[in-house]
Amino acid sequence: MADDDDIQVHRGLNGVYFDRSAVCSIDGRAGELRYRGYSIHDLAEHSSFEETAYLLFHGELPTRSQLDLWDAELKVARDLPGPLFDVIRAMLHAHPMDLARTAVSALAAFDPDVADNSREATLRKSIRLTSQVPMIVAAHHRLRSGFDPVPPRPDLGHAANFLYMLTGAMPSDNATHLMDLDLILHAEHGSNASSFTARVVAGTDANLHATVTAAISALSGPAHGGAAENVMRMAQEIGDPANAAAYVKDLRSRREPVMGFGHRVYRTEDPRARHMREGVRRLSQEMEEPKWYAILEAVVEAMRPYARLGVNVNVDFYAGVVYYLHGIPEDLFVPIFAVGRTPGWCVQVLEQYEHNILIRPLTVYSGPPPRDYVGIGER
Ligand SMILES: CC(C)(COP(=O)(O)OP(=O)(O)OC[C@H]1O[C@@H](n2cnc3c(N)ncnc32)[C@H](O)[C@@H]1OP(=O)(O)O)[C@@H](O)C(=O)NCCC(=O)NCCS
Repeated sequence: MADDDDIQVHRGLNGVYFDRSAVCSIDGRAGELRYRGYSIHDLAEHSSFEETAYLLFHGELPTRSQLDLWDAELKVARDLPGPLFDVIRAMLHAHPMDLARTAVSALAAFDPDVADNSREATLRKSIRLTSQVPMIVAAHHRLRSGFDPVPPRPDLGHAANFLYMLTGAMPSDNATHLMDLDLILHAEHGSNASSFTARVVAGTDANLHATVTAAISALSGPAHGGAAENVMRMAQEIGDPANAAAYVKDLRSRREPVMGFGHRVYRTEDPRARHMREGVRRLSQEMEEPKWYAILEAVVEAMRPYARLGVNVNVDFYAGVVYYLHGIPEDLFVPIFAVGRTPGWCVQVLEQYEHNILIRPLTVYSGPPPRDYVGIGER
């Protein structure tokens, strides 16, 4: 065993490279994010969620006919086994993330490829999960609101169909566009906590449903996916742009983080944030609710001194208000993140299976020195 003094501990695995990946590159200093070499800005402006998911899985942008085929495969996969609705009904009052985790885990019991970790079977399961996760989130929300689940519509794309299943109404073009954008921005992000979790589980050769169930668990915490929910709560507590500075000061005096700020990798602004910021600005104007955009910008102003520590807005800072203005309840914000991230988790698991290795780091022991067992009567 190495001498403790020679060991360098990287708490939180901060700055540790544990493998290679051909999916996503992040330059935290330059504030750059690319999926398979394509800039997130180009994808945000020109792509769709379906096309981006194809890119992630296949490594190249699809031709028209490849995209049509892919789209058809995703649509055929919009199907939940009947017993899953019983699982959902048994958990109506659960947080939608707890429900999503349990439902994805339960799906393993019904997937014909469940035990097959080959590339072909994992891709088939990935397509199914990409289409099923939004169905689960939507069906739970409908049922807990006292309505029947809304069957998917094959004439609608992924984002529009998700909103349609959630609300039972045809979404506006603007709402569809913003949801599509949001899903693209969340689709993949390297070795983030939930994708790393998925890889750790895949490292044991567990099946895809096990990896995604674990990833959903990791995403549910406020330090990862839960931030968007907390940002909206914060905006409501602030209530008026004039209160933002005092609110931030109070939080920081208690050394609490300001939600939607800071990132393990980005030292500049998260490149995804600008697209959502523009969405919030436009939507606030259109809906004649300028207050929310003004509150967020006042928080950004109050947080400006922290930029020198590398603490800037992240993607979750603006996403919550977009959902809120669309009438989506706060506890669905993280599940929407999960809807977007499902292809990212699956593609990372595919990569992990391809050159699989058990992920098993070490901890430096810091407990009591060796000692003799003492019988219960002598303690
Ligand atoms: C994401 C997060 C967990 C990263 O934490 P981290 O890697 O430990 O952060 P850093 O090492 O960059 O922190 C550097 C300094 O900035 C401070 N800081 C980090 N995030 C902050 C935030 N959101 N608000 C205020 N200060 C923050 C830290 O406290 C630290 O200061 P210290 O050295 O005096 O303790 C953290 O920023 C956070 O909790 N953010 C809020 C939740 C959130 O938005 N999560 C979504 C991420 S996409």
